[in-house]
Amino acid sequence: MVNTITVVGAGNVGATTAQRLAEKQLARRVVMVDVAEGIPQGKALDLYQSAPIEGYDTRIVGANDYAETAGSDIVVITAGIARKPGMSRDDLLATNAGIVRQVCEAIRTTSPDAIIIMVSNPLDVMCYVAKRVTGFPRERILGMAGVLDTARYRAFLAEALDVSVRDIQAMVLGGHGDTMVPLVSYTTVSGIPVAQLLDRTRLDALVTRTRNGGAEIVKHLKTGSAYYAPSAAAVQMVEAIVRDEKRILPCAAWLEGEYGMSGLFLGVPCKLGRRGLERIIEVELTAAERAELARSAEAVREPMAAVKL
Ligand code: NAI
Ligand code: 2OP
Repeated sequence: MVNTITVVGAGNVGATTAQRLAEKQLARRVVMVDVAEGIPQGKALDLYQSAPIEGYDTRIVGANDYAETAGSDIVVITAGIARKPGMSRDDLLATNAGIVRQVCEAIRTTSPDAIIIMVSNPLDVMCYVAKRVTGFPRERILGMAGVLDTARYRAFLAEALDVSVRDIQAMVLGGHGDTMVPLVSYTTVSGIPVAQLLDRTRLDALVTRTRNGGAEIVKHLKTGSAYYAPSAAAVQMVEAIVRDEKRILPCAAWLEGEYGMSGLFLGVPCKLGRRGLERIIEVELTAAERAELARSAEAVREPMAAVKL
């Protein structure tokens, strides 16, 4: 358990993240910060009143400024606008870059030693904004996307094969967008290569559904985007850090030569422990997967160049 975890943004992803953090007792205090007056305070009070029923001792506090967050160990950033039908993640760029910049300026001064888990979209570019604004080392800025995209891929595979989700091992790399790269060559069902269990056409259909996984939910919800699986994914990363689990999870990390690329955040296999990013694991890729990863990197670099800081 750490002392304080801050969640910035008390909307759908932020509030469910705070709930999961408290229910897992990952911190003594969870502080929710939002610009909307009364919302973080009201949700924090409501969540804390579930503590006697759920049996956790984590205190949950809501605020409109950063005083309560001082010295946070981990900050999860979910502030910003979410997608509506017809919007891509990149449509959120200008608005969310301004919001994330303001949030990161506050974190830099109030929690200079924090580990940041970025959730706001467009994810890979918002990680870059956080790095530029805070100046934190790459070990302390990670983006959540690969865990979510992989969970969607695993869920679709488990459904198609009628097996337990727990027996699907997989990894989705690349940027959090249409160019993400589900690694079919590393997808196994209890060690059995998935290509032995599903034909190529069905596998391709599941890969396409994974790439559109966020948009499929936006289409249903109409007024916003997914939040149950996204908050579960962010909390899995937080848990790996708080409990020093040394888990290998696909996360957006700042590349310094890994996979032949530098100077951008991209989803790659990361070892997470108490210091944050402890290592980026480089795996062998097929020629097609390498080409897809390079294309995905280009799709991240374009909005990155457009962001004004
Ligand atoms: P939401 O609209 O429910 O909540 C966003 C909250 O941010 C609102 O309560 C708003 O008042 C707050 N906010 C706005 N400006 C702020 C500021 N300057 N400081 C503090 N709070 C501020 O949206 P939701 O569904 O929670 O999504 C949040 C973000 O997460 C979106 O950008 C969305 O696209 C992204 N997202 C990313 C995922 C990923 O895989 N990386 C998955 C799901 C969502
Ligand atoms: C998602 O993938 C919108 O990025 C969000 O659901």
